[in-house]
Amino acid sequence: MKSNNGFIAKIYDPIFYLALKPIRIAVMNELLKYKEKIILDLCCGTGNQIKLLSKHGFSNLSCLDISDSMLEIAKRGNSSIKIYKEDATNTNFDDASFDVVILSFAIHEKDRNTQQALMNEAYRIIKKDGLMLVVDYVFDNKTTKFGKILVSIIERIAGGEHDRNFKNYIQNKGLLSLIKKDKFKLIKYNRMSSGAVTISLYQKIC
Ligand SMILES: C[S@@+](CC[C@H](N)C(=O)[O-])C[C@H]1O[C@@H](n2cnc3c(N)ncnc32)[C@H](O)[C@@H]1O
Repeated sequence: MKSNNGFIAKIYDPIFYLALKPIRIAVMNELLKYKEKIILDLCCGTGNQIKLLSKHGFSNLSCLDISDSMLEIAKRGNSSIKIYKEDATNTNFDDASFDVVILSFAIHEKDRNTQQALMNEAYRIIKKDGLMLVVDYVFDNKTTKFGKILVSIIERIAGGEHDRNFKNYIQNKGLLSLIKKDKFKLIKYNRMSSGAVTISLYQKIC
């Protein structure tokens, strides 16, 4: 997704809001016991997920994206969330700044080098024993045909580089190929959207 794509920012919530709502709620439920923790949504887009957390009493929230137009929407309506415009692969945060980092649909659309840089940066800014919650696509034998077709159509509409990166991500076995076992340990895993989306909770290993 290009950094200044105002059109996509405008249509993102109207198109995806309803489809993503159950996922947003599931993410919130995963994090309910971390309400007082310091949480960052990396590549937050329009801020939909972090705003839901804020609405439900999470108190120490930040979000970051590279796109002005996405952040313009993220800034609407909630002043308690700290919002940053930065490159998620090279942020200005100190090491070990956050208890929880969320990466929601942030990985599949990027090229391999950027994906790896994003994971490295998430690892750097998460505290010892902190959590990384990743929401993204998976295509395997637990994904229904319907799920695969629907997601493929969505990504084809997103087009160009985004679609190419998505296809490579799926071919490379998605998140599994990016997680370094000496850095993160899987502690919980959940599937949604006809088995095409996973919510994975990892703990940082130091
Ligand atoms: C598919 S959207 C997902 C948005 C949101 N996390 C969600 O769940 O709806 C991916 C987001 O990543 C952002 N992005 C892409 N490259 C980035 C980078 N290098 N640093 C920060 N944000 C980036 C885009 O601007 C976009 O908002």
